[in-house]
Amino acid sequence: MKIYVTEDYQSMSRKAANILSAQVILNPASVLGLATGSSPVGMYQQLIKWYDKGDVDFSQVRSVNLDEYVGLSPEHNQSYRCFMQKHFFDHINILPENTNVPNGLAEDPAAECRRYNQVIRNLGGIDIQVLGMGHNGHIGFNEPGEAFELETHVVNLSERTIDANARFFASRDEVPRQAMTMGIKSIMQARQILVIVSGEDKAAIVKTALTGPVTPRVPASILQLHPNVVLVADKAAMSQC
Ligand code: F6R
Repeated sequence: MKIYVTEDYQSMSRKAANILSAQVILNPASVLGLATGSSPVGMYQQLIKWYDKGDVDFSQVRSVNLDEYVGLSPEHNQSYRCFMQKHFFDHINILPENTNVPNGLAEDPAAECRRYNQVIRNLGGIDIQVLGMGHNGHIGFNEPGEAFELETHVVNLSERTIDANARFFASRDEVPRQAMTMGIKSIMQARQILVIVSGEDKAAIVKTALTGPVTPRVPASILQLHPNVVLVADKAAMSQC
């Protein structure tokens, strides 16, 4: 694992954007595995700036996102499709048909997961997968205890996650109960993985994931076994390592 420690969130975002843009410059038709959440927002902002300057071109890039809520339309302001449009896709020249996020409104979510696995296969696999890390070590929506050998699948959200997400919705009842997520197997099949972590509140889980045993109880610990991981973390997130 290659580890870059940066001063703060901004320099972490810039370093992560360096790595992603290098991938796109070297292979303009790269398949990017993308994530939502607060960790990659600064990276997307930096990439948009470089796109505006003409330094990076996304016209041939294909993308696959990690996850989506079951039951939310692409237009719902809490859907991950909406997040990606707002924070990245609407500001660059990636072709809409080249972007993939699981369809939250699919009538049969399990069938949608199978379709999504086929999408990833048809693209020839993922060149670089961006990941954030949850406080409990989750990656994508793979919570502690999830089997390592799954590809994209449906997960039931824990009561804790539903509680935590309730603040983004008009009421707790509106929070989706399920999500579709790439599994650990899908993530581990990416040729390279870029993990972005910032903040002191992540310091304990970063230490556990990097130096503790590899176990489904800490999904991110599996990354110790991937041959090509780059971790970009700010000083605060690395403060216990
Ligand atoms: C996002 C995702 C999640 C987040 C994780 C960290 O698509 O699947 O696993 O990466 O929850 O979230 P932030 O970056 O908000 O701390």
